[in-house]
This record gives sequence, C-alpha cells and structure tokens, in this order.
Amino acid sequence: MVKNIAVLSGDGIGPEITHEGIKVLNQIANQYGHTFNYELADFGAEAYFKTGSPFPEATKKICDQADTIIKGPVGLAVEKMLEIPLEQRPEKGAILPLRARYDTFANYRPVYLPPEYADFSPLKKEVIGNGINILMIRELVGGIYFGNKTEGVETNNTYASDDCHYDYAKIKRIAVTAFEEATKNPFNRLTNIHKSNVLATSRFWNQVVEEVQENYPDVEYQSVLVDNAAYQLVINPAQYNGVMLLNNMMGDILTDQAGGVLGSLGLMPSACIGTEKGYVEPAHGSAPDIAGQNIANPYSMIGSIAFLLEKCFNLEKEGQAVWNALKAVFGNGYRTKELAGNHTDSSHILSTTAFGDKVVEYLQKH
Ligand code: IPM
Ligand code: MN
Repeated sequence: MVKNIAVLSGDGIGPEITHEGIKVLNQIANQYGHTFNYELADFGAEAYFKTGSPFPEATKKICDQADTIIKGPVGLAVEKMLEIPLEQRPEKGAILPLRARYDTFANYRPVYLPPEYADFSPLKKEVIGNGINILMIRELVGGIYFGNKTEGVETNNTYASDDCHYDYAKIKRIAVTAFEEATKNPFNRLTNIHKSNVLATSRFWNQVVEEVQENYPDVEYQSVLVDNAAYQLVINPAQYNGVMLLNNMMGDILTDQAGGVLGSLGLMPSACIGTEKGYVEPAHGSAPDIAGQNIANPYSMIGSIAFLLEKCFNLEKEGQAVWNALKAVFGNGYRTKELAGNHTDSSHILSTTAFGDKVVEYLQKH
C-alpha cells in the first residue's frame, strides 16, 4: 500500500513524540511492505508566530492532498498564548477548523488499563479489578462547540450564549459508528451518555440512538445520565467496559476524566475519523515545560499510529501489531521519566527515543 501522510507535529513535545510515531510507522512499512510518504506542515501556536496563522493555507493544501493526517499536540506556555488574538489561538483557529474541514465526526478515545498497569491509576487496585477497557466515542463536529455564539447587550444587561444544535443525520452516523464498534468489541456493550432530564438535544439524541439500537439487538445497551456517569466512572469504571457514546461536550469532559482514572492523559491515543479523511492525535497537551528534553512519553502518539493503521488505512493486522508492541513495552514496566513513579525500576526508565526504539524492537521480534 502506498499512502501520503501530512504530518502536523505541533508545539511543545509534539515534534519529539511525532518522531517516535513515525519511527514505528516506518518499521511497519518495512515489515509489511508498505510505502508511507510524509509531508511536514506547520500547525498550532508556533505556526501562528511563523506565518500569522495557526492553520496556514499551505498546510490546508498539504492536508487536502494527503490520504491522512498525523497531528501532534498544540499550544505554548500561557504567556505566549496570551500574545495570540483569540480567533487565532489553536483551539479556535486550527483544531476546530481542522475537524470541520474534514468533517471528522467520530473521535475514538480508548480508556485502557489492564491489571498490569493498575499501579498507574490513582484508584485503588480493587476498583481496577480485572482492568478497564472502555472505548469512548465522542461526536466531534456538532453540538455546542459548533453552534452559534453570541455576546451582546440586552436592556440594561450583558449576556453570552452558545447554541447546542444536533440534527438527525449527525446523531445517526455517530450512533451507527458506535454500535458497529460495539459489535466488534469483546464486551458487546454500549453505554449511551446524555442529560435527557434537562436538555432537548439529549432527548432527541436518545430517540435517534434508540432507533439505531433496534438494528443491533445483540448489543447490550444502557443509557446513563452524564452526571451519574461521571460519578460511576470513578466508583466502578469497569462497569462501562465496552463502547461509550457521547456528544461533543460530554465527550470532551468525560474523556479527560477518564485520563485521570488511568493516571495520565499520556495513556490516551485518539483518532478523529470523517467520511473521507481522518487524523490521529494524542489526547494530551503539548507540555511546553518539558519540551526538547527527550523525556516526554510517546505512548499516546504511538497508540494513535495504531489507530491510523486501523481506522484510516484499514490495516487491522498492522494496527494490532503496534498495539501489541506498545502494550508489551508498557506492560513490561518501561516508562519515560515523566511517567515514572516510585515503583519504577531505574533500569526501566527510558528516554522518549529509547521508548520508541523498544516498541520497534518488539515489532522486529514478533
Ligand atoms: C480535545 C481538546 C479540544 C476540544 C480543544 C483544544 C478545542 O480539549 O481535543 O479534547 O475541546 O475538543
Ligand atoms: Mn479536551
């Protein structure tokens, strides 16, 4: 297979972890006989300072022409970010436009913590039990993040409002995606998150999700209010093993909470998939304070590469090989310095590049 990949390595630790991701991808290309061509493009806060835009036209062109996109985290230290006008900050000026441009409606964020990594979570071992394995699927291009935003003045008062809008087609396609994943998932279970006791959009969401559910009678289905789900995720996360379906904002919040349950967002790869194109990115930030020291953890980026193989190129076997290698290296206790705890044996503390090398070494041997 020959594929062209746009590489937006981003800010802070972005370039370092992206380098490890590509190292792993190149190993897969060698082992399985594929050709991956890469084109680097500016994206994020550094891109703004260099070109005046966080998502420059040249980058758009490279992304339009590529088969898929690897995106690193974006953002610099707070003082630097304040120098950027609101409209040009990466969230508003780059990330949301990237999602809208390629209509990447399905955001996959796996919350995976096998018992071998249990020491990593701030939760008690008994709570982790046999492990957490929730595939969170977040709707990524609708709802309150993309609705009309107004700030204004009403008689003797000022106000701001954000519209939350969901139409039938937008809910249906993400529901179908989630149910399809649930049928492939070993738990064969789907948990739908909503706030139907208050929100009209949630009542409509449930109606559409439950219509789709009729086509998947074998998937165990439950629907849970978002506030209760936030509570239950900490009390007993494994009850949600399987697929969890969330709207844009609820997904934003609960995926970060799930990162906390795991012990770090550094353990959360992600993929944002549209009908024609997708991109992959780690769910964590750009950690500018530790950039350039070769200590950042490339786990989420390497996991995102597994997603790229699976979800963007339909290379299931290759994707699985990357997951297996990543889980084996991490499961054997290897950590980058930033993630290492008191329990980490000093011989198992690796630099960013050495962690990538270990994953490559595992791939070579298996
Ligand atoms: C995420 C991020 C983004 C979001 C921000 C940076 C716009 O928090 O991918 O979860 O809110 O979706
Ligand atoms: Mn977020």
